[in-house]
Amino acid sequence: MRYARIYLGKRTSDVAHGSKNAEGDRTRYIDLAQPSEVLFPRMEDSSGALTVIHGQKEIPFAIARAYLISDIAPGASRGAHAHRKLRQVIMAAAGSFTLTVSSGTHSHEFFLTESSKGVYIPRLFWRELTNFSHDAVCLVFTDRPYEESDYIRSFSEYLDEANNG
Ligand code: TYD
Repeated sequence: MRYARIYLGKRTSDVAHGSKNAEGDRTRYIDLAQPSEVLFPRMEDSSGALTVIHGQKEIPFAIARAYLISDIAPGASRGAHAHRKLRQVIMAAAGSFTLTVSSGTHSHEFFLTESSKGVYIPRLFWRELTNFSHDAVCLVFTDRPYEESDYIRSFSEYLDEANNG
């Protein structure tokens, strides 16, 4: 399966402007082989905001694991690896940071700053997280459990594996 239909979520502002389909959700097809932005429904009222995230709905896979990266030291960067099999969605639950996703030949920068947006990363893409704000909290969803043997931590090894399979 190369494409998946994902939900962009019903937002408070959509309710005022009419729903987009029978469930009231907007949907979009994404190419599962390419990095892509995903959106989460965010419901706001005068008391605050609530963001909802489902596997196989806003996120194009069943969620096996979630983890948070917080208390990031000033100037620190994270990531700098690729995964052989694992797919992820990365979002800023608080604060902001830059996510760079690279195929070795092309790279794309996402500035993540709001809790209603994430980035889907397929297998075999290099990722780096930089430029963290002091209050940043990075929230990650994955389709597989933690397995160190799934990591490629050397960029030259990554290029070899990406070009050969
Ligand atoms: P790593 O994925 O390299 O962090 P980042 O890419 O954000 O810099 O993980 C850092 C350490 O935490 C590494 O020693 C492995 C460990 N770890 C787990 O034990 N379980 C997990 O689910 C994750 C994500 C990491």
